Amino acid sequence: MKLPEELQFIANARKVQLTTTARLDGRVCVITGATSGVGYQAARRLAQFGAHTVLICRNRLKAAAVKDELEQAFGTRVDIIQADFARLADVRTAAEVILKNYPRIDVLVNNAGIHNTHRSLTVDGIEEVFAVNHVASFLLTRLLLERMIESAPARIIQVNSQGHRFGGLNLADLNWEKRRYKGLQGYGASKVAQLLTVWEFADLLKGSGVTINAMHPGEVKTNIGMNNDLLYRLYNRLIVARFLKDPHISGSAIHYLAAAPDLAQVSGTFYNLTIPEKPAAHALDRELGKKVWQVSERLAGLA
Ligand SMILES: NC(=O)c1ccc[n+]([C@@H]2O[C@H](COP(=O)([O-])OP(=O)(O)OC[C@H]3O[C@@H](n4cnc5c(N)ncnc54)[C@H](OP(=O)(O)O)[C@@H]3O)[C@@H](O)[C@H]2O)c1
Repeated sequence: MKLPEELQFIANARKVQLTTTARLDGRVCVITGATSGVGYQAARRLAQFGAHTVLICRNRLKAAAVKDELEQAFGTRVDIIQADFARLADVRTAAEVILKNYPRIDVLVNNAGIHNTHRSLTVDGIEEVFAVNHVASFLLTRLLLERMIESAPARIIQVNSQGHRFGGLNLADLNWEKRRYKGLQGYGASKVAQLLTVWEFADLLKGSGVTINAMHPGEVKTNIGMNNDLLYRLYNRLIVARFLKDPHISGSAIHYLAAAPDLAQVSGTFYNLTIPEKPAAHALDRELGKKVWQVSERLAGLA
């Protein structure tokens, strides 16, 4: 039985995923949030295939452990840049360090992300999930864009989520002052905003040799949500985790999107791991996307 288009993501999750053996020797791959889960697996896989990885992480100790592990396992170069993506000043500093030290950037994986059950605001006055998952990745991408164009061919991968299907984006109330905060919708809002800007970036980058795609990294067992209260953490660990897969599938998919020769020209596509998929209708609203772009510029201090 063929599922309706909006439920196709359920069938796609069961499909055999594509892999690549394409190597990344000499390529500089910047990955955010590489100390855990999806980002850690992506860093591992890219390093395994020869990439020089640059890990942007908020916890220096955890990042140092990943660096040691990958350098020993694969003999590749691993650099660390410390930045808390809940602080836009940190994102700017990280971008400055990258622009100063790396004459080329071949791959950018915007992965760092969170899920909160309660509303909180960042030092910049932005709802934290929206700030970390969307505004920070938008700002970093914008600040590195020229360098990536100079480095073309280059690829940008936005680690997004099926959570975009929860919706929740309301440009008149991004800080949830008029609505009761709901974790899944707060998360959904950040992912819808990110997806809408992917289509804008893809248009902007047409003909530049830089591609940008978004992906859902699978339903995988990671530390996401583990910053929330005990009850939520227990529920996640004892119930939800039973249905989750090993995040090495996410690392393999990110490697495929970053390196597979078949995808050299593909841009502006949403992938369920490695399967192209149609996002929810509300994440395809290009008029809304243009407004999100403007709001994101303002929030990121780029306007
Ligand atoms: N797990 C899933 O099933 C799933 C499904 C769909 C989408 N995703 C997406 O996958 C991405 C990675 O999540 P995950 O599941 O791998 O979760 P995770 O295990 O919690 O890893 C998240 C990573 O982001 C980092 N991070 C969080 N807040 C940060 C901040 N303020 N500044 C800098 N780094 C920060 C974390 O650093 P620390 O190690 O210091 O905490 C960690 O390295 C997210 O974008 C998430 O939305 C995950």
